Amino acid sequence: MSDPLPHEIERVLFTEEQISARIREVAAEISRRYAGRTVKLIAVLKGSVFFLTALAREITIPVKIDFLAISSFTGQNRGPGMVRIAKDLDEPIEGDDVLLVEDIVDTGFTARYLLQTLAGRGPNSLGICTLLDRSVRRIVQVPVEFRCFEIPDRFVVGFGLDYRQLYRNLRYIAVMKNS
Ligand code: IMP
Ligand code: MG
Repeated sequence: MSDPLPHEIERVLFTEEQISARIREVAAEISRRYAGRTVKLIAVLKGSVFFLTALAREITIPVKIDFLAISSFTGQNRGPGMVRIAKDLDEPIEGDDVLLVEDIVDTGFTARYLLQTLAGRGPNSLGICTLLDRSVRRIVQVPVEFRCFEIPDRFVVGFGLDYRQLYRNLRYIAVMKNS
């Protein structure tokens, strides 16, 4: 039996089963692409942590993980804003094969800022792996090497994604009402 949906939620977009099946596929792609190497997964707190742990468990090559946190100064309406690093990585990434693990790439501002910042630290390679891609809202172009799902222009929550810090723990990804 499935639990009733929270009242602010309109419908489920991806079920727990669909998410885990797709993460397994993307993890297999990553394991092939980086075969013979160690991949360093870098997640952006807090939303991407759920995706990172699920992804890391399915990758079959050696994995390291690290975290950073950012503050976004967005205007009204989740519009693009300035981004800065609020908590930096614990370790240098020089010479590493780095995959930036994102919950969602939307306008692209956050991802572009992080890519530029990390690129300056001399990794051997640098790519983006995102759970969700809402490319219809893209303002700045960023190369997305791995994506699990493309989504429509609606606000979504679950599997790490929040609305005012709520709903991160949902096992599925859902569309919010009135978005
Ligand atoms: P970007 O800089 O516009 O690409 O913003 C990406 C960030 O905005 C994500 O890391 C999320 O924190 C947040 N975000 C964008 N769309 C959504 C959504 O539909 N649900 C929850 N958070 C979102
Ligand atoms: Mg985020």
